Order: sequence, then C-alpha cells, then structure tokens
Amino acid sequence: MSDIASLGELSGKRVLVRSDLNVPLDGPAEARVITDDGRIRASAPTIAALAGAGAKVLVTAHLGRPRGAHDPALSLAPVAARLGELIEAPVSFVPDTVGPQAQQAVAALGDGEVLVLENIRFNAAETSKDDAERGAFATELASLADAFVSDGFGVVHRKQASVYDVAQRLPHAMGALVATEIEVLRRLTETPERPYVVVLGGSKVSDKLGVIENLLAKADRLLIGGGMVFTFLRAQGHEVGTSLLEADQLDTCRDYLARAAETGVQILLPTDVVVDTAFPGGGRATSPSVVPADQIPADAMGLDIGPDSAKAFAEALADARTVFWNGPMGVFEVDEFAGGTRAVAHALTGIDGLSVVGGGDSAAAVRRLGFAEDAFGHISTGGGASLEYLEGKELPGIAVLES
Ligand code: 3PG
Repeated sequence: MSDIASLGELSGKRVLVRSDLNVPLDGPAEARVITDDGRIRASAPTIAALAGAGAKVLVTAHLGRPRGAHDPALSLAPVAARLGELIEAPVSFVPDTVGPQAQQAVAALGDGEVLVLENIRFNAAETSKDDAERGAFATELASLADAFVSDGFGVVHRKQASVYDVAQRLPHAMGALVATEIEVLRRLTETPERPYVVVLGGSKVSDKLGVIENLLAKADRLLIGGGMVFTFLRAQGHEVGTSLLEADQLDTCRDYLARAAETGVQILLPTDVVVDTAFPGGGRATSPSVVPADQIPADAMGLDIGPDSAKAFAEALADARTVFWNGPMGVFEVDEFAGGTRAVAHALTGIDGLSVVGGGDSAAAVRRLGFAEDAFGHISTGGGASLEYLEGKELPGIAVLES
C-alpha cells in the first residue's frame, strides 16, 4: 500500500488529509474546552510532516454527529487552535467545507501552511447512504486538492465521502498513523505471541458480539468487566439488581460461556462487584459498597469490578505476551468506581510483549487516570475501527487505498 513518499514531490502541492480529530469537548458553544486531545496529538505528526515537505496542507475531519446540520458546539475551530499549538506552527481555520470561502482559503495557502476545514459532517452528503450524492460531494472536496492522504484511523470503518469516495478521485496515500494502527492490529490477528489475553468492558455486550465471536477462536483468556458483565452474570443465573442488563443477549452469553468451556478458552468474570444504590449523578457516588458477584442486592447497581476481581484480572494479565483491551471495567470517571479500570491499565503497563489499548473510552480512561502513554505498547485512536478490524470486517477506508 502506498505511503506518502509515493505521492512524489510535495512542495507546492495541495494535499488533503483526512484526520480523526473527533475529541471530547466541554463547555458552552462559544467557549469549548477540549477535555482529551489524544487524537489531535496522534494526528499532528503526519500534518507536520506534510507541511515540512512544503505541501499546502488542507485538513478535513468530523466532530460528533451533527447529522448534516450546522452546530456551533461542534465546530472544529478549537481543534484547529490546539493543532497549531501542537505542531508549533500557524494553523488557519475556515468555517466552510467545500464552498467559496473554503476555496478562497485554499487559494491563499502558502507552501508549508496548514488549513483546517470546518466539520465535514455539517454537510449531509458526507455521510449519505446514496453513492451518487456522496460521490458528488467528494468530487467537490477533491477539487480543492492535488492529492489525498488518509490518516483518520478512527473513521476508516465508515464509507463516507471524505474517507472513501475522495480516495477514488485523487492520487492517494496512507498516512503514518493509519499505517501504524494497521500494523499493530495485524500483529494481534495474524501472529499473536501467547498467552494472548483480551480484556473487554464497556456498557453493552451487543456492541462486542462480532469481536467476542472472533476472539474466542484466537485468544487464550478473555477477561470481562464493565456494564456488559452483568448480562454474563445473569446468564449464569445470578441476580444483578438494577445493573445494566441486555435481556436479549442472555442466550448469546450462555453460548459464549459454553463454547469457551469446550475449546479451553478461559473466560474470567468478576467474583466481586462495587455497587451503589444509583448511577453516580453529577460524578458522585451515593453509598458504594463491595458485594460478591453472585449476591448483588435487588436494589443495587453494579458500577465496577471489585478489588478481588481487579487482583485476579491483574494476575491473569501478568504472564501475557499479547494483550488487547477495549472498554473500561467500571464508571472510571468517578473515583469510587475507577479501581477496576485502574488495575487493568496498571497491569498492561507491566506486559512483557505487546499491549494494545483499543481506543475510545479505554484510551480516554488511561489518560484520565494519569498513566503515561508510552507505558503501553500502543494506544489506538479508533474504538469502533479497531473492533471492526478484529471482527475480521473489511474497512472501506483501507480497502479503497488498495484499489
Ligand atoms: C470515533 O469517535 O470512534 C470516530 O471518530 C468515528 O466516529 P463515528 O462513530 O461518529 O463515525
């Protein structure tokens, strides 16, 4: 697959880069604050390298899901400002995607300068299911540039105009971030050193069906925590109180447990749970306590794996040579329910081998809990994208680069 060098001399060329700058923001629309800039930092090297090579760099990206409407709270303006700080060079911003303002801003760009276009999803055609509508929009976007670099790993599982269709309309290359992410995921699927341990959390089993299905055949151990664990506990016949429960997935969970027992894959579920009487409103616990996982009171809600389970999970990770972790073990934003996630993150920092934090909430959790990013083998920028890769699905934004 072609890397940036394949685009030839870049000086003076207009290069459109698709990045994933979809970061969490807080505060009112006119004063948005970025609460985790991980994806901007991960995107900065490719943008800086292109600018360093003398390209006129146009960055296109999305923020949130505005569904084709302009939403000032989802403007990329604060993201452009942060990108400028990170690459230590002026980054301009234009509140337009493909219209006259964007065209003028591109025309005014000097060699080595960077321009961020407004949230591409303010235009409904970006995410349209209609190939012709999406294609027409991609043609407009492509007309702004001479070449395209795909570097938004978190969005390569989306068949969208700025990810997929634009690559069919311009000479294209894979950015360094996407190349690194794919290389790590390949190591996880093709040649994992053993023991290979997978840790899954997050709220829903239904979000992880494909990945569990696939990893049951590949991993040696599967550790399960987070909100999804209560469906597994219920499938084993335990009461789960008011904890999150997906009743329509009980049979699926029973099937996973039975298949794991048959094939010798060890599935580890928590033996104790931190519960509370309610979900922590306003970021505060009410009256947290630890109970055995098979004795959750009827009025209690499980919000984290308990301390014994955290210890058992850390032990199950200790001799791993390959680890993939996706999804927090509990409501890590609240101290009382952060212990399980902290224990798993800590165990990953000690892995003698490849440890991969699979994007999304788990990536945010390690940063929020104060872990150094370089303590992990790889922190993915793509939650959904890395899961779909591990499910064995074709990622449209990658496949199109191969064509
Ligand atoms: C993400 O946050 O996982 C990516 O930016 C993709 O966003 P999307 O799920 O809204 O397409």
